[in-house]
Amino acid sequence: MCGIVGYLGKEDGAHVIIDGLKRLEYRGYDSWGIAASNDGKIDIHKQVGKIGGFDLKRDLPAFHGNICIGHTRWATHGGVTEKNSHPHLSCDKRIAVVHNGIVENYQELKTELEKKGHKFVSQTDTEVLAHLIEEKLKTKKELKDAVRASLKEVEGSYALGIIDREQKIMIGARLGSPLVFGLGKDGFYLGSDVPAFLEFTNKVIFLGEHEMVEVKPEGYKIINIESGQQIKSKIVKIAWSIEDAEKGGQPHFMIKEMLEQPMVVDKTVGTDPTELEKAAKLIRKAKKIYVVACGTALHAGLYGAYLLAQNNDLMVQPISAGEFPYFGHLIKKNDLVITVSQSGETADVLGAVRSAQAAGAKVLALVNVLGSSLMRLADGSILTKAGSEICVLSTKAYVSQQAMFAMLSAHLNGKPEEGKKALRAIKKDIKTILEKDNLKKIRKLAKKLSGVPNIYALGRGINYPNSLESCLKIKEVSYIHAEGFAGGDLKHGPIALIEKDVPVLVFSTNDQVQKEIISNAMEVKARGAYVIGIGPENNQVFEEYLPVSANGFYTPIASIVYSQLIAYYIALEKQLDPDKPRNLAKSVTVK
Ligand code: M6R
Repeated sequence: MCGIVGYLGKEDGAHVIIDGLKRLEYRGYDSWGIAASNDGKIDIHKQVGKIGGFDLKRDLPAFHGNICIGHTRWATHGGVTEKNSHPHLSCDKRIAVVHNGIVENYQELKTELEKKGHKFVSQTDTEVLAHLIEEKLKTKKELKDAVRASLKEVEGSYALGIIDREQKIMIGARLGSPLVFGLGKDGFYLGSDVPAFLEFTNKVIFLGEHEMVEVKPEGYKIINIESGQQIKSKIVKIAWSIEDAEKGGQPHFMIKEMLEQPMVVDKTVGTDPTELEKAAKLIRKAKKIYVVACGTALHAGLYGAYLLAQNNDLMVQPISAGEFPYFGHLIKKNDLVITVSQSGETADVLGAVRSAQAAGAKVLALVNVLGSSLMRLADGSILTKAGSEICVLSTKAYVSQQAMFAMLSAHLNGKPEEGKKALRAIKKDIKTILEKDNLKKIRKLAKKLSGVPNIYALGRGINYPNSLESCLKIKEVSYIHAEGFAGGDLKHGPIALIEKDVPVLVFSTNDQVQKEIISNAMEVKARGAYVIGIGPENNQVFEEYLPVSANGFYTPIASIVYSQLIAYYIALEKQLDPDKPRNLAKSVTVK
């Protein structure tokens, strides 16, 4: 999704913006741009494509200014062109605006502004904001008042960076899209996410909904957009190091993040029991429980639903957040919605949370980003322990979410030590899976799979979510069509897809489910499938066998690592960039 960086300070800020935009690349984008205010004018540079190879000194040596904003754009309104890239300027070129979100009523606003003589150069919704602020400045003296008056007319969502060449002010504002304000020694920063400026400061304020920050060289004010009142906001010190947000010597974030999984599991074991108890209280009080999330986080939620059913005798209804609106009217007071999200900014998840709360239900969030919108909205939250995840594909966040469900389930049963013990064993197992020789073996297998048009995966019960997640990973990063099925569904249709040499990953077990999943493996093998077994016991039906230790309900937390690695190595075989797959964004902040 779009990324925003802003700087106002003593130094020349253009390099701060370019570095920050490079750090936000993981969010996914198709073009980028920067604006710098200097000597009473605003300079703009925009480009279609990636910012990775751009060198400010070499490519734009004269570009400078100490009030700057930049943006990586993921096109929504208007094609991928330089004109549509942000920043956008007002007619008098006094105001430059970058925006993440959607101005839903932009067409009406644009028509009104055109009637007043404003000339538009792009097809974007964002450009109306620059002109609207310019219009308001005709009657409002201060930029902050013109911005507030403009935002009152806007329907939709926004994180905004605004600079004014005349008043030498930068403004950040948010509603529905994330924006963080940084306080450094040499200046002030804006970012869609902390890595944008973590190199310069770890002191941040997470702007809340309907909040804006007015930044001047001498200081800043946090203001409520609706009332205009100044707000006292907490400055938070971020514990992540910049190295944490970088590749740590690995060729890609994806492999770096997969290699961190033993540590992630270890950190989860250390979760504060009071945090778990707060969550457990919400669960105990709930009449009905739902788990709502998107993509990989939904698969983790599905794992949680199986775990709470099998280990805690709790009925939990999983719903994809995008489909939640069609069930929302059935949510009642005393119900609990458990949400799972890496970013805590997924628009569909936030929408579901707001509607569940409006119906009187409580919301518990398993979320990875401190200060995220989801964390702020939820009635209770547990911070998952993945740390910063940069690769667009979610790997370590998934494992951390599954591991957190394991801790929660054990806590609910009053047997926290059982959860910790299992997770320690899982950690050991993941470490073994990630050993060099094993990686070589998986790479060889991935080479075999890299030329096929389809891959399938089968799992039953608690392994079913992993069959879905494996195929999501494979399709996201290798662009090979992949589908996961529940073993029991095989004969109800999917088996028609099986023909000679079709690879099928089978998540097997060594418990009462074993017989059934092995039968499924036999059924696909009888139709020519190339069967890859992942589980605690080998079987003659497997052509390839990838071992995991038997850890009961917790085994899937380790076995998923094989599929993540297979997906990664297929991408490498196909010479694809695993960190930034086409068309995908790290956090989906628009519906
Ligand atoms: O930030 P969230 O966990 O809420 O994101 C949910 C999905 O968008 C995300 O998991 C997506 O499916 C990833 N691309 C998976 O790799």
